[in-house]
Amino acid sequence: MEGMVTPATQAMAHGVSALVHTSFTELCADDWDTDAVRLLLEETSPDAMSVALQNPAFAAVEREDEVPIGVLLMPKPSYLSLLFVHPAHLRKGVARRLWEAARRHIEAMHPDTKTVELNSTPYALPAYRALGFVPLSAEFIRRGCRITRMACWLPARALGAEGSGLSHSPGARLLPDVLETARLRLRRPEARDAASIYAGYARDPEVCRFMIWRPHVSESVTRAFVASCIDEWAVGSRLPYVVSERGVDEAIGMLEARMLGTTVDLGYVLARSHWGRGLMPEALENLADIALRTPAIHRVQATCDTANVPSQRALEKAGFVREGRLARHTVHPNLSPEPRACFMYATTRP
Ligand SMILES: CC(C)(COP(=O)(O)OP(=O)(O)OC[C@H]1O[C@@H](n2cnc3c(N)ncnc32)[C@H](O)[C@@H]1OP(=O)(O)O)[C@@H](O)C(=O)NCCC(=O)NCCS
Repeated sequence: MEGMVTPATQAMAHGVSALVHTSFTELCADDWDTDAVRLLLEETSPDAMSVALQNPAFAAVEREDEVPIGVLLMPKPSYLSLLFVHPAHLRKGVARRLWEAARRHIEAMHPDTKTVELNSTPYALPAYRALGFVPLSAEFIRRGCRITRMACWLPARALGAEGSGLSHSPGARLLPDVLETARLRLRRPEARDAASIYAGYARDPEVCRFMIWRPHVSESVTRAFVASCIDEWAVGSRLPYVVSERGVDEAIGMLEARMLGTTVDLGYVLARSHWGRGLMPEALENLADIALRTPAIHRVQATCDTANVPSQRALEKAGFVREGRLARHTVHPNLSPEPRACFMYATTRP
C-alpha cells in the first residue's frame, strides 16, 4: 500500500535520526571523507534532530508500521536540508510523495517563495533531477564532500506536465530548435540568457503584471528559471524559446510553446523597451504558421487576461481569433490571488 506522508514532530527525533544514519551510511557515505561523515552524523543525531524539528518551515515523514522510512526537512521555505529514504524502500515513490507534500505546503503557506534550493551529493543528483530540481552550480567541495547546488522553481513545476493534461512526447520536438522571422531569431535558452532576461524584463513589475509569476527578486531566481527552461527542452512537453533580434544574440523576451497533443498553447513576454514595434505578433504568427504546417498539430491557442489589451492586440495582429471568455480561469498573482477571467484566442487548421 502506498505510504502516508505525515508531519514530522520532535517526538520522532530518534526514529528520524536512525533513518538518516542508516540511509546515509549505506547510500552516500562512500563519497564523503571521514570528517564530513562524522559531521553529518553529529548534525543528524537524535538531539540535533529534536532541535531541527522544533520549528521547521516543513518537515514530514513517510512511515511503515510506525517506523519512518523517508524524511524530508526544510528549515526555511527556500531550503531543503534533508531528504532521506531507507535503502530497503528505494524506488517506491517515497521521495516524490515527500517532496510533493513539501512543494504543496510551500506554495500554499509561503506564496512568495518561488525557488527551493538544496545541496546534492553525487549519489542523489539523478533523483533530485527526477523531482524537478536543476543544477545551479558545477560540483564543488564543501566540508569534505562533493556538492552540487540545485534548485526547483515552483511555478515551473506547477505549469509542468503533471496534472495538466500535457502530453510528454507526442507533440515534443515537432517544432524546430531555431526559428527566424524578418526581424527576430527564436532559439533554445542558454544559461547565459539569465543576465539579459533579469536585467531586461523579469524584474520589471510592469512587464510581469499579467504573468503567472512574480517579478524576480534577484538574478539567481532568473538563473534557476533559465535552468528549468533548458531542462524543459530535454523533456519536450514545453518548448520555451528565447526571443532575440536578428544579429543581436541577446534575449529580449520569451515565447513558450506548450505541447498539448494536437494543440500548441502559447505564452509570451517581451522587454518593455521593445514594446510597440509589432515584434511579438511577428513571432506569434511565424510560430503558429510553422506549427500548423506540422501534420500532427491542428490548433495553436493562447489565453490572456481580459484586462491585458496589449496582449489581445498582439494576438489579433498575428491572426488569432477570440473564441470566448473563460471565467475564473487563471491566477495572475500580481493582480489578485483569485483566478481571473481570460479570453481564449486560437488559430486553427481549416
Ligand atoms: C503583450 C506583448 C508581448 C505585446 O508585444 P509587442 O511586440 O509590444 O506587440 P505590439 O507591438 O503589436 O503591440 C501590441 C499592443 O501593445 C500596446 N502597446 C504598444 N506599445 C506600447 C507601449 N510602449 N506601452 C504599453 N503598451 C503598448 C498597444 O495596445 C498595441 O496595440 P496596437 O498596435 O493596436 O496599438 C507585450 O506587451 C508584453 O510583453 N507584455 C507583458 C507580458 C504579457 O502580458 N504577456 C502576455 C501574457 S498573455
